[in-house]
Amino acid sequence: MTDLSPLDAAGVDAAVEAALAAFAAASTLDELKEARLAHTGDKAPLTLANRQIGGLSPEEKAQAGKAMGAARAAMGRALAARTAELEAERDARVLVEEAVDVTLPTSRQQPGARHPIETMQERMCDLFVSMGWEVAEGPEMEAEWFNFDALNFDPDHPAREMQDTFFIDPPSSGLLLRTHTSPVQVRAALERRDSLEGGRGIYVVCPGKTFRTDELDATHTPVFHQIEGLAIDKGLTMAHLKGTLDHFARALFGPDAITRLRPAFFPFTEPSAEMDLRCFVCGGDDAACRTCRGTGWIEWGGCGMTHPNVLRAAGIDPEKYTAFAFGMGIERTLMFRHNVTDMRDMVEGDVRFSQQFGMEI
Ligand code: PHE
Repeated sequence: MTDLSPLDAAGVDAAVEAALAAFAAASTLDELKEARLAHTGDKAPLTLANRQIGGLSPEEKAQAGKAMGAARAAMGRALAARTAELEAERDARVLVEEAVDVTLPTSRQQPGARHPIETMQERMCDLFVSMGWEVAEGPEMEAEWFNFDALNFDPDHPAREMQDTFFIDPPSSGLLLRTHTSPVQVRAALERRDSLEGGRGIYVVCPGKTFRTDELDATHTPVFHQIEGLAIDKGLTMAHLKGTLDHFARALFGPDAITRLRPAFFPFTEPSAEMDLRCFVCGGDDAACRTCRGTGWIEWGGCGMTHPNVLRAAGIDPEKYTAFAFGMGIERTLMFRHNVTDMRDMVEGDVRFSQQFGMEI
């Protein structure tokens, strides 16, 4: 086939006709694209003819230029018109194909919800992780040694009864359901001793389930949750403990939250303290306040400087390092932070209870 000459009027007309026919025959936008490339693309006869114009004499140039201009305009118009038609068709089809029948019945299944204890636990951990602490875990079925002995409880210490423990049969198993998260202090310290030698200190929080033989009632549950904090480093003092607790309190209860320490006793800390939170409802100004029962303070947890014997049990030299620890109940925190008045609501698993808290707490 010889190349089409730009001066061959019949040939140019035929090429334009062929292009218009191909555009009209295209029934989809993809087919139209193919037709456009075939008739107006780099290798199309009219494109090649157009390229020859440069080599013509001036009069021929004028004639050929006019013919080619008209040809290209005709093809451009046809292409635009067909594109518009096919796009409209496609849009109409998509509207039908992708239509949603809003009258169809929906699923009657309620979406679930995360339990607020879980969400609260995560929020608490996030705060400490943001300060560079690690989250540590320990087993719920724990060795008596970790739960009591390593924490400096004497073998006949009344706290062993006081804590009203679920022991695992047979007694010789030496196992129990942990009565607090404090055994994780010893486990975490044992696992991370290298950190101390590397000069990094040990900073961990440990949230988890704890167990005591209480009857389920409005304020007790045999399975509950605590979060434990432990920091071991050179030169840690009560001031670091207090600062940490105040920061924790402000993160959960707002910028005005303050804490108070009252002397207390735990075998694993010396000195030991109970930690109270200034009542964030009445601020201590309402003798009839239901949240703090008019005392102005809410008991939040226990804390203290880790007893040297506990550090020794974890193989850490108490002459070189000091440590502080704290522990609070997560149910208790939820109860006063969210005005949950009955512990049983947190235990029974009615999804309507959890749904009220949403995904953020
Ligand atoms: N383990 C204690 C309790 O369950 C709380 C506590 C933790 C006290 C850490 C001091 C230090 O009551």
